[in-house]
Amino acid sequence: MHVMRGSQRLFEHGRFYDAFARRLAGGLYRRVVDDVVLAEPRPGAVLLDAGCGPGRLAMDIARARPDATVHGVDLAAGAIEVAVDRAARAGLADRTRFLCGDLADLPFPDGTFDLVVSTVSYHHWAHVSPVVAELARVLRPDGRLWVYDARAMPATPFRDAAREAMPDRAQGRAIVRTGWFPVPIFQRLAVSRSA
Ligand SMILES: C[S@@+](CC[C@H](N)C(=O)[O-])C[C@H]1O[C@@H](n2cnc3c(N)ncnc32)[C@H](O)[C@@H]1O
Repeated sequence: MHVMRGSQRLFEHGRFYDAFARRLAGGLYRRVVDDVVLAEPRPGAVLLDAGCGPGRLAMDIARARPDATVHGVDLAAGAIEVAVDRAARAGLADRTRFLCGDLADLPFPDGTFDLVVSTVSYHHWAHVSPVVAELARVLRPDGRLWVYDARAMPATPFRDAAREAMPDRAQGRAIVRTGWFPVPIFQRLAVSRSA
């Protein structure tokens, strides 16, 4: 299902991308961690970072939520190597699991996750519908899906796919403010049981 794009080669160089990720997206990661801490109160929550890259956000969530287990999946083997290494060095390997794979074909049973988050990956999804359908499958019936990406990215492909895969759930879109950008440049596309 996945089609390799030119930009995908960049993510294969996990350490190269990682060197820029905190600087470029650090404010967004902090915002996502705050959202998770405030809005996902379920103790022992199981989370997925979809398109996790080198795992910085997944690790930040794991640190902020010592009760939670955080999985990360990414197509780029180089990025996953960096994430696995980072988790081991931080002593978080027992609560963070990273694997290389396609979001359109996940090796998890139905209803595994309380919350799926994704940061700046949506605009790389070659086919939005199969990814959203698969994320819907692995979400618990009362689970939530939060997709953060550039505000300029059209929301329609995500919304259409989410409506098809999860017709009984509510959708929302929020503009996301992050630390050092003078204007908000991110949006959060959300799917949950209720609005
Ligand atoms: C800009 S990077 C963002 C990485 C990380 N979420 C972050 O915020 O730093 C986009 C990531 O999405 C991943 N990706 C794109 N399409 C994917 C797919 N179908 N399955 C898994 N990962 C995918 C890429 O490999 C890349 O690591």
